[in-house]
Amino acid sequence: MADTGKVDQPYTPPPLWYKDAIVYQIHVRTFYDSNGDGVGDFQGLIQKLDYIQNLGVTAIWLLPFYPSPLKDDGYDISDYNSIHPSYGTLDDFRAFLQEAHRRGLHVITEAVVNHTSDQHPWFQESRSSKDNPRRNWYVWSDTDDRYRGVRIIFVDTELSNWSWDPVSKAYYWHRFFSHQPDLNFDNPEVCEAVWNILKFWMEMGVDGMRLDAVPYLVEREGTSCENLPETHEILKFLRKRVDEYFPNRMLLAEANQWPSDVRPYFGEGDECHMAFHFPLMPRMFMGIQLEDRKPIVDILQQTPAIPDMCQWAIFLRNHDELTLEMVTDEERDYMYDSYAKDSSMRINVGIRRRLAPLLDNDRRKIELMNGLLMSLSGTPIVYYGDEIGMGDNIYLGDRKGVRTPMQWSGGWTGGFSLADPERLYSPVVSNIMYCPQAVNVISEQRSAHSLLSWMKLLIRTRRKVKAFGSGTTEFLHPENHRVLAYVRKLGSETILVVNNLSASAQAVEIDLRKFRGAIPVEMSGGSIFPRIGELPYLLTLGPYQFFWFRLRRI
Ligand code: NOJ
Repeated sequence: MADTGKVDQPYTPPPLWYKDAIVYQIHVRTFYDSNGDGVGDFQGLIQKLDYIQNLGVTAIWLLPFYPSPLKDDGYDISDYNSIHPSYGTLDDFRAFLQEAHRRGLHVITEAVVNHTSDQHPWFQESRSSKDNPRRNWYVWSDTDDRYRGVRIIFVDTELSNWSWDPVSKAYYWHRFFSHQPDLNFDNPEVCEAVWNILKFWMEMGVDGMRLDAVPYLVEREGTSCENLPETHEILKFLRKRVDEYFPNRMLLAEANQWPSDVRPYFGEGDECHMAFHFPLMPRMFMGIQLEDRKPIVDILQQTPAIPDMCQWAIFLRNHDELTLEMVTDEERDYMYDSYAKDSSMRINVGIRRRLAPLLDNDRRKIELMNGLLMSLSGTPIVYYGDEIGMGDNIYLGDRKGVRTPMQWSGGWTGGFSLADPERLYSPVVSNIMYCPQAVNVISEQRSAHSLLSWMKLLIRTRRKVKAFGSGTTEFLHPENHRVLAYVRKLGSETILVVNNLSASAQAVEIDLRKFRGAIPVEMSGGSIFPRIGELPYLLTLGPYQFFWFRLRRI
């Protein structure tokens, strides 16, 4: 299919920008309220762009900000080409984009196209009668027994992937909440409509789009209705269009699947440029809990190679629960037992907590996990607030507890808004350990030793190393399994990373003979370590300590 519509293409980002990016994930609603109505907005976000730039990240990923009944915090879209009125206007969005680009920050937005809100006019038309031209835009059935056995994702709320529509007296298919009917991608008109959504935002200048829930686009009887060849065909179609009209823009697949099932989403470099590495994330938490490198090394060794221009997106936490879908039953029990003893911490198949509380607010563990995030293969994503060690509120319902207002200062609303605290879209975290008086940007900016200052140093150090974004990874195998060591390499640049995953001091002997003669330079402080020789290289590390060494050849 060739597109005949004209495209206005004012802007081209540099090639492969996403490979060396450091992404900061933000919800406009939660970040900064500029007009005192209790809800974050684009004008507020613009005011905080200097903060984001100063953090050192290079890209921003925004959660959905489109008109929506907000029953799934915006992942239920009722108009794809506009802005939710409480966040501002399209002009505000354009101003934000321009200001972000002016600061060298790339912008990634959401393409939630597997489903719409049931309030979307497309669905309203589709349900209105069986002869409506849009009837076939959704997946309808007279019975609820088709696609039997397909798993339910939101197990805590949904009993079936079918819901009865009393208006049109038929069942419609939905993989998520029942108010989110799935679009019918077997209909070419739907594929064109989806392309038009991508085109609309790319014309405006967004650098990349996250494709939400991408494994579920197409349904076929007798299958799991996930990762089907037809779904990959649709992605190839969209990618072709993107390449044709918007060179260097990026598509990011949200496919919560095993690495071997995610691999096809990169195609031969002709589907998505990036995909999240979901199974790695829980295994990082398992690694430090077990004090053993095995879970991390195993999953990365099972991860297939991807085309050169592609990249993994890696993360510690995000706006959803810490998903435990991609672990074994035994591993899941272990994770619940270690990280979610209280049942209020659990939702669906996962844990609804932020990074700092998950790690007992232990600064050493928080640093180590961020050190892993910034040095393992992939583009790291930092969830807003985790850079200052924000807490959560597990009693707020659904995943709201990890989406509380950003804490800018020690005031009643954490400096998020001038509204009365009762008016905010969500209460600020009030727990004594994590409330704005205890955790906020202003006080962390004043201390050279705060988590925020440390994160900035880490990010700046990471940015100096091309090998972290694009280099190879070779795991080393010292006898001490509490130590995770690897070499990242790109051209003549060689970085040795050594992590102590345990709560106690460790000594480790690493076979570095192939780097004989090189001098390790510790990257955070520039100290020179003894030259590498024939003997196993001896290092000692304090609890949860890690080192990044540049290996200098003289
Ligand atoms: C994935 C999103 O990350 C999640 O927040 C949302 O609820 C589902 N997709 C449904 O859109």
